Amino acid sequence: MKRFLIVYAATAALLAAVPSAPAAAPVIAVRAGRLLDGTGEAARTEQVILIEGPRIKAVGPAGSVAIPDGAEVIDLSGATVLPGLIDCHTHLATRADNFSEINKFKRTPFTAGFAAVVHARKTLDAGFTTVRDLGSKPFLAVDLRESIEEGFLVGPRVVASGPGISMTGGHGDLNKYSPLVHMMMYPEERDFQIADGMDQVRHVVRAQVKYGVDVIKICATGGVMSRGDPPGSPQFSLEELTVAVKEAHALGRKVAAHAHGAIGIKNAVHAGVDSIEHGSMIDDEGIRLMVERGTWLVSDIYNDDYLLGRAREIQLPQESIDKERAIGQLQRDNFAKCVKAGVKIAFGTDAGIYPHGDNAKQFALMVRYGLPPAQAIRSATTGAADLLGRADDIGQVAPGRFADLIAVAGDPLEDVRILETVGFVMKGGKVHRNELAPRSRGRAEGAPSR
Ligand code: ARG
Repeated sequence: MKRFLIVYAATAALLAAVPSAPAAAPVIAVRAGRLLDGTGEAARTEQVILIEGPRIKAVGPAGSVAIPDGAEVIDLSGATVLPGLIDCHTHLATRADNFSEINKFKRTPFTAGFAAVVHARKTLDAGFTTVRDLGSKPFLAVDLRESIEEGFLVGPRVVASGPGISMTGGHGDLNKYSPLVHMMMYPEERDFQIADGMDQVRHVVRAQVKYGVDVIKICATGGVMSRGDPPGSPQFSLEELTVAVKEAHALGRKVAAHAHGAIGIKNAVHAGVDSIEHGSMIDDEGIRLMVERGTWLVSDIYNDDYLLGRAREIQLPQESIDKERAIGQLQRDNFAKCVKAGVKIAFGTDAGIYPHGDNAKQFALMVRYGLPPAQAIRSATTGAADLLGRADDIGQVAPGRFADLIAVAGDPLEDVRILETVGFVMKGGKVHRNELAPRSRGRAEGAPSR
């Protein structure tokens, strides 16, 4: 008994000696020569951003924010610092190098998984610290989100959808084959899920939420990269779309509607979706409705350059070439109309149609079609964060937000294309890339340490 007590006491003493309080979070001070905080406000010069652990603790003019002793100083005083960018429409599991129809019959879900690993890193390299991934095999995007969150994979924060929901014969179905063709041994192995009627739609939304999606993607019209479904034709009835939105919203999930055609866009807006993806053939009534309802437009206006510019090289099927020719320029002109009318714009590119990592190429087009640079940046920062319902965490350089920061060597308000060459990326207080800033410890004012 006595010996037992001694062992017990020794163990207790040992346990007590182990420090139980977690080590203090590392403190980093970023010196920003110019800061665009994501709100669309004018640039502020000579700022200090104080970061503790994964979040921003303070932001202010260099003189007013005290840099604690021992803090690491990252000197970006020659650069412009912005919030990490947000792309509200990606397909991280999709490769843009070959669109030959035969791939659908040759590739396994592993191809998609491998692609996602590579693309997640490329996307973060490019300064996109959050993406909303809108359509992949079940439930690749959810797994990707978790693996990145754990720190096992390198990539942006992922707001994950499941497979896009499509009606039979719709944008997500495999059309124009013999009814005898059964390509899928495992019907789950596709980027889309088919549902018809209010009950099935309700079921699919519930099931996707059960398996962890953050957002629902539903196809309200035909599309470009699919066969047999004109982009202009509406898909799903207003009733089906309404059930999807009601169910998703009841479960706390937003809804993104793939919609090119004017009628499908209006159906989706009436149903209450949170964002219209593409919006290519929108009419005046649709624009008015979107303004009225506060529906976001996520318009992938860079894609046309890549698809038509590389059609042969990427083996784009003739049907898709024809559809792209019909809607590409129209989509850009209608984007300009939407901007003019005051439709809320969130940045989203449909990455995966063009190569991942080139996301920022869309900024120049948004500016060319009427969005001032400050607003284009806003669409990929606070605007996007609003659409995602994550404004408390991302999209702004402000106390309490995640320390997701990027820096560029010039002034994006002068030339937005500078965002195509991001030289510094920090996500959650961890430096992911740094080709711009000398780093130093303590108060050694910006002295390069290496
Ligand atoms: N995922 C879209 C679709 O298949 C891509 C559209 C690309 N073209 C464009 N102009 N945005 O419909």
